[in-house]
Amino acid sequence: MSRLALVTGGTRGIGEAISTRLKDAGYIVAANYGSNDEKAKAFNKEHDIPIYKFDVSDFDACKAAIEQIRSDFGHDIDILVNNAGITRDNTIHNMTPECWHKVMETDLGSCFNLSRNVIETMRTNNFGRIVNIGSINGQAGQYGQVNYAAAKSGIHGFTKALAQEGARHNITVNAIAPGYIETDMVRAVPPKVLAKIVAGIPIGRLGQPEEIARGVAFLVADEAGFITGSTMSINGGQHMY
Ligand code: CAA
Repeated sequence: MSRLALVTGGTRGIGEAISTRLKDAGYIVAANYGSNDEKAKAFNKEHDIPIYKFDVSDFDACKAAIEQIRSDFGHDIDILVNNAGITRDNTIHNMTPECWHKVMETDLGSCFNLSRNVIETMRTNNFGRIVNIGSINGQAGQYGQVNYAAAKSGIHGFTKALAQEGARHNITVNAIAPGYIETDMVRAVPPKVLAKIVAGIPIGRLGQPEEIARGVAFLVADEAGFITGSTMSINGGQHMY
């Protein structure tokens, strides 16, 4: 059987592009989603990729879902793409503790919840590929995003630490730091603010989800076994890090 990949937040935006790219590359793909049933069903119908609804911020839900996926496919998860993420943008003086915790638990907590539940079989199988989707805003910070920037910055540290632990078991762990990509998340930025941001992108445009998916496909390949602990910035030159 081909390698089995789980993509969190895999039915919309960047995640949808990752799921379909990996399927086209010959992997078996399972796509997680959190809430948008309508979009997930349409995704499933269009791409014939199985969908799994669970909350990535809930450790026990992740554990149960991974067991379910293992049993459905009769195979361990070889490739994990921690892509699910949300924003709750606001300046800190207007930010509620709920908006802080929700983003930390969903964007960063999910990386622990998922990785913890696949790592044991990856170690046993002496193979694994984990790609965590960070952000330019975790590298450079962003006005209105202390929660998101902290969570995404945490992902970059998480990646480097887990890369050290996984290396002896042929488990590579890398991050991608997307810049501003044309998705619902970026479309929600106030137009005036977004226009200023785009003006600061040397390539002169937003990125496309497929441009992130190409990076993921590169990093999860069997041939990418010597790349670990790295962060691939795909941001049109907006931040050179
Ligand atoms: N730097 C400096 N000042 C800024 C600023 C910035 N980046 N953005 C806004 N300001 C200033 C404004 O100019 C304004 O000042 P004036 O009143 O003097 O003009 C002041 O801050 C208040 O701005 P707003 O009117 O926008 O304030 P608000 O309270 O209505 O909204 C906000 C604040 C929610 C943070 C809003 O500005 C916002 O949504 N900003 C976008 C944040 C952003 O870029 N999020 C990225 C989402 S996409 C993503 O996260 C994906 C990824 O990984 C890249």
